Amino acid sequence: MVKLTVVTREGAENTIEIEEGGSLMEAIRDAGMDELLALCGGCLSCATCHVMIDEGHSGALPPRSEEEVELLEGSEFFEARSRLSCQIPVDEKLEGARVEIAPED
Ligand code: FES
Repeated sequence: MVKLTVVTREGAENTIEIEEGGSLMEAIRDAGMDELLALCGGCLSCATCHVMIDEGHSGALPPRSEEEVELLEGSEFFEARSRLSCQIPVDEKLEGARVEIAPED
C-alpha cells in the first residue's frame, strides 16, 4: 500500500492509502474526489487529470512523455510540478507525496 495526500481545489487535504499497480488518476477517482474529471479515461488526450506533485517526489517519477508535455502546455496552470495523473503509476515512489489537483482551465 502507498500512503499519500491529495489536496482538492478548495484546499482540503485527504490522506489516502492505495494499492500499487493502477494509475494515480484512478486512485484519486476511486477515493471519491470527482473534481479530477479525467474525461478521456486515461487515454492521454484530455489533460483534465492535471495535478501538481511536490518537488521531493516528482523528480523520482518516470519522466513526462512528449505527448504529456504537449497536453500540459495547453494549461494556463502548467508549472514544473505539473503531471497528468493518468500517466503516473502508483508505486512506492509516491509514498508520502503531496498531490494537488490543478485548478480547472
Ligand atoms: S485522463 Fe485524459 S489525459 Fe489523463
